[in-house]
Amino acid sequence: MPEPTVIDHPLVQHKLTLMRRSDTSTSEFRTLLREIALLLAYEVTRDLPLVYEEIQTPLAPMRAPVLEGKKIVVVSIMRAGNGLLDGILDILPAARVGHVGLYRDPKTLVAVEYYFKVPPNMRDRDVLLVDPMLATGHSAVAAVERVKQVNPKSIKFLCLLAAPEGIAHFNEHHPDVPIFTAAIDERLNEKGYILPGLGDAGDRMFGT
Ligand code: URA
Repeated sequence: MPEPTVIDHPLVQHKLTLMRRSDTSTSEFRTLLREIALLLAYEVTRDLPLVYEEIQTPLAPMRAPVLEGKKIVVVSIMRAGNGLLDGILDILPAARVGHVGLYRDPKTLVAVEYYFKVPPNMRDRDVLLVDPMLATGHSAVAAVERVKQVNPKSIKFLCLLAAPEGIAHFNEHHPDVPIFTAAIDERLNEKGYILPGLGDAGDRMFGT
């Protein structure tokens, strides 16, 4: 089974620790989330292909690298995925944005879709699917299934925290989709929350 890429940059790890702390306020949490999302996006986009184009600097012409291909689509798994958008768009300002709306059935923990909107021409686009928490993996698996229906060029999955159970479930269904995360935690509790985790990511970022 493919191993997730753990983004172990010291700035990411430090910010993640601050986010985990129960005494971090909603406003601090949001600021940290924006900053960490930017750093994660920086690492996840390391392998984007470049092409060379002729430009003119104030002093001389040169062949300079630019990103190849159509704009990336960042697809947020609502609602918590939306919290990662600002930071990612800070560093990828021209990216397009899609949304997948899924809710977890509280009894079965299975994902149910209520919204789906992505840009046109998905066949030519690379998708970065984002959700802060890969817990049971049900939402992520369902979201990837839905995104695969529009046939994007590639899909990567980015989260902040992953549980071993979620990684196993995800890899079982989508071994072709690489996972990027800032940390892999110990396990899930009986309610499907990641331990030690950071609590409910949506509640912490929106103050609900
Ligand atoms: N969703 C969250 O927000 N937190 C968890 O720990 C698991 C799922």
